[in-house]
Amino acid sequence: PIVRLSDYRPSDYLIDAVSLDISLYADDTLVTAELAMRPNPAGVAGAPLRLDGDELELRAFTVDGATPAAGAWESSPQGLTLHAPPQQPFRLRIVTRVNPAANTKLMGLYRSSGVYCTQCEAEGFRRITYFLDRPDVLSVYTTRIEAAKDEAPLLLGNGNLQEAGDLSGTGRHYAVWHDPFPKPAYLFALVAGRLDTVSETFTTMSGRKVEIAVHVEPGKADRAGYALDALARSMRWDEETFGREYDLDVFNVVAVSDFNMGAMENKGLNIFNDKYVLASPDTATDADYANIEAIIAHEYFHNWTGNRITCRDWFQLCLKEGLTVFRDHEFSADQRSRPVRRIADVRTLRAAQFVEDAGPLAHPVRPTQYSEINNFYTATVYEKGSELVRMLSILLGPEAFRAGLDLYFSRHDGHAATIEDFLACFAEAGGRNLDHFAQWYAQAGTPVVTARGVWDEAAGTWTLHLKQTTPPTPGQTEKRPQVIPIQMGLIGASGRELPLQADNDAPLQGDVLVFDREEMSVTFRHVTERPTPSLFRGFSAPVRCDIDLDDADELLLFRADSDAFNRWQAVQNLMLKHLAKDVAAIRAGRGRAGAPAFIGAFGDFLASEGKRDPAFVAQALSLPTEGDIAREIGSDIDPDAIHAARQTLRQAMATTLLPALRAIRDEAEMEVKFDPGAQAAGRRALRNLALDLIAAAAPDEGAERAASQIRSATNMTDRMAALATLSLLPGARREDALTAWEREFGGDPLVMDKWFGVQAMIPEAGTLDRVRRLMSHPGFTMTNPNRVRALLSAFSLSNPTQFARADGQGFELIADAILELDRINPQVASRMLTAFRAWRTLEPGRRVRALAALQRIAARTGLSVDAQDILNRMLAAN
Ligand code: ARG
Ligand code: ZN
Repeated sequence: PIVRLSDYRPSDYLIDAVSLDISLYADDTLVTAELAMRPNPAGVAGAPLRLDGDELELRAFTVDGATPAAGAWESSPQGLTLHAPPQQPFRLRIVTRVNPAANTKLMGLYRSSGVYCTQCEAEGFRRITYFLDRPDVLSVYTTRIEAAKDEAPLLLGNGNLQEAGDLSGTGRHYAVWHDPFPKPAYLFALVAGRLDTVSETFTTMSGRKVEIAVHVEPGKADRAGYALDALARSMRWDEETFGREYDLDVFNVVAVSDFNMGAMENKGLNIFNDKYVLASPDTATDADYANIEAIIAHEYFHNWTGNRITCRDWFQLCLKEGLTVFRDHEFSADQRSRPVRRIADVRTLRAAQFVEDAGPLAHPVRPTQYSEINNFYTATVYEKGSELVRMLSILLGPEAFRAGLDLYFSRHDGHAATIEDFLACFAEAGGRNLDHFAQWYAQAGTPVVTARGVWDEAAGTWTLHLKQTTPPTPGQTEKRPQVIPIQMGLIGASGRELPLQADNDAPLQGDVLVFDREEMSVTFRHVTERPTPSLFRGFSAPVRCDIDLDDADELLLFRADSDAFNRWQAVQNLMLKHLAKDVAAIRAGRGRAGAPAFIGAFGDFLASEGKRDPAFVAQALSLPTEGDIAREIGSDIDPDAIHAARQTLRQAMATTLLPALRAIRDEAEMEVKFDPGAQAAGRRALRNLALDLIAAAAPDEGAERAASQIRSATNMTDRMAALATLSLLPGARREDALTAWEREFGGDPLVMDKWFGVQAMIPEAGTLDRVRRLMSHPGFTMTNPNRVRALLSAFSLSNPTQFARADGQGFELIADAILELDRINPQVASRMLTAFRAWRTLEPGRRVRALAALQRIAARTGLSVDAQDILNRMLAAN
C-alpha cells in the first residue's frame, strides 16, 4: 500500500503512558504491555482503534481488565483492532510472544552475538507489541526487563534506572527503567547481555552530573575509549554552540555487531553498529576514527533534534535527519579542519546524492509518498537535507539562524513537528519570507547553474549572466527555479581579491548573491582588471555549476583563491575536464592523451604546502574517482575507458612528481605514539597518497615500499593504505600480503572487513571469482550486514569495471546475492539493489545486461516489499 503525505490525519487515540514487562528468553520472549489510552480530541470520535503489528503472536488481551466479547475485536500477526473502544480514558493489556533468536531482519527485538537489542526506527516497535506505531503518538515509558543473570548481567533501557534486583532461586534478575520524556515508539530501546563498560561523569553546563558510558563486547573495552571521548566532546560542543544541554542522569551507548544501519538515537540508550564505536590504533584507520566521532555526535545531537522535538510523520524525516547531519558536519568541522571536512562532505554528497538525484530513485528531500519508509533513509533526505539547512544559515547569517533555531527549540519542545513548523521559526527570527525557499523540500533534482561573465574593460564593469535549470525527475517533469545562494568572490589577474560592488538593486548580501529566478544578470563596478570568478565558495548550494573557465583561470583559482574549497574544486575541474576528453579519445580509438600541462603546478604546491597543510594537499592531489568521472560524463558510460583514462593521468602525475613524492616518503618521521587527531591524520594521508602515486609511476618500487610498510606500520591507517596500494599490483607480493593479513586478523571481523573490501575492489577480471570464493570464506556470512557491505557493496559500488563488466557477470553475481539476502534481511537486500540506480547511464551493451539482471530479480515471487519498491521505481518507464 502507498502512504501519502496528503493523507495525513491525527491519530484517533493517544497513548499517554506505556508500561512494558519484557521477560527475555532467546527464542521465546514474553512482552506484556499496559497502555493508558484515551480518545484524541483532534481525532474522529468513536472511530475503531487499529494497532499496528508485524509478525506478532498474541497471547492475551484485555480492555480495562476484561476480555472483550468475541465480535468486538480481531487480531492477526499484522494488527489488532478494537471496533468500538471506550470514549473515555481506558487501559489495554496486551501480551505478545516474540522470537529474538529467529529475527534475521534485525528490526524489533533481536539477538546479536548473544546480546539482546532492539531497532525500532522506523516501524520496528510493532514487531515487539501491538501499538500506535507512528511518530506523532508520544508516551511516557516504564520498562521492566527480566533475563537470566549469567546470560545478561547488564540490563539497559530508556531513561533513568528506577529499580533493580534478583528473582531469588531462578537465576534471573530484573531492572526497571523510567523515561520521563514523552517519546514516539521508534525511540524505544532495550539491551540485555554480557558487555564490558567504559564510563565517566560528565558535568553539564548547569552543573548536573551525568554518567556517560560505552558498552562493548567482552574483551574490547580498550577499543571504546575514543567513542567515549567523542561523546563527551559532542555534549560540550552542543552546549557551547547551540545551548543544548543533556536531560537525563545517564547516557548509554551500546555497540552491537549485527546492525542494519550506522546507529540509532534511542532516548538515553544509543545503539550502534560496532564499526562506528570500536577503535584502536591497531585496528581502526583515520577514516574510521573520523566516522566514529561524527556518528557518536550525530546520535547524541538527535537528543534535541529528533527526540525532544520529533517528526509528525515519516515524510518529515529530513526534519530530524537533515538538521542533525548539518549539526554533525559543523561539529566535525570545529573539531578538525573546516575546509578539509567540507571537501570530504561534498565528495560524499556528490558521489551518493547527485547520483541518486539523476536517476530513477530521485525524490524530494521531503517525499510525498512511499510504500516502504525504510527505503527513504537516503542520501537525499540526509545529505541534501543537511545542505538545505546550511543554505538557510548562509541566507540568514549566523545570528538570525541561531535565533531561528532557539525559537524552534522553545516552541516545539516535546512535540512532533513538520518542515513548515521549522521554516516558520526561521522566517520569524530572520524577518524573511521563506515560501520560495521551502520549494527545496518539495522539488527533486539537482539544479544546473550556467554562469557566464563579461568584462567591459573600458567601463570597468563585469557582468555575470546566470541561468538555472533543473532536469526532470520521476513524477516531476516541470521544474521551477530555486533560491540559490552563491557565495562568491572575484580574483584579479595578479591573484588579489577584488572588492564586490554590485548595482544597488542586485540581490547581493555581503558576498552572497541570491539567485532565485530562471535568469539573472548582475553587474559589478570598479572591476579594473580582468577578473576570474570564484563561485559557490564553500559549496554554498547543492547544485552543479557550468562555467566557462579555461585551464589558466582554474590554475589561478587553485593558486590564489582565498576559499580553500574552491582551490580544491579548481584542481578537480582541471582533472575532470581532461579525463572526460581522454575517455572520449580512448573510445574513439584515438589513443590516450599525453601529460596535461597543469600537472606542472602540483610540484610547487607539494613543496610549498605539503608541510603546512598535508591533509588539504592530499585531498587536492587525489584524483577524481571513476564514479566522479562517470558523473561528469553523464551518459553512455564505458567504465573500462574511464578506468584507462584515470590510470593514464595517475601515471602521468606520478611520473612528473616522482622526486617530490620520494622526498615526502623519505623525510617523514616515524610517529612515536599514535595520535588520532586531524593533524597527524593529515600527515599520514599525504604520505600514503605519495606511496600510491609512486606505485603508479614505478610499480616495483611501489610494491616494495608498500610491502615493507605493511610489515613495519605501527597503525592500521598505514597498514591498510599500503595493502590498498599493493592490491592494485598483481603478483605474489600481493597474494602473500593478503595471506599474512588473514593469518593475523582472522579473528577480528572488523579488520577482516577491510580485507574483504580491498579484494572486492581490485579492478581485474579475476575479481569476480575472487569475490565468489570469499563468499564461502569462514569469516563471511550473509546474515551480518557489515560482512555483506564489506564484500558485496565494495564490489558493486566501488569497482565499476568489474560490477559493470561487459559480459554482465558482475551484475549477475550481485543479483544472486540480492535474491539470497532478501529472504534473510530485506532492508539490506533493497539497499544492495540501489547499486543499479545508474543503470540507464551505461553504454547500450551493459545497459541491456543490467536490465536483464534486474528483471531476473523482479521475476522472483515472494520478494519483500522493500525490494519490490526499489525495483518498481528502477524499472519504471519514467
Ligand atoms: N535515525 C538513525 C540515524 O540517522 C537511522 C535509523 C534508520 N534505521 C532504519 N531501519 N531505517 O542515526
Ligand atoms: Zn540520524
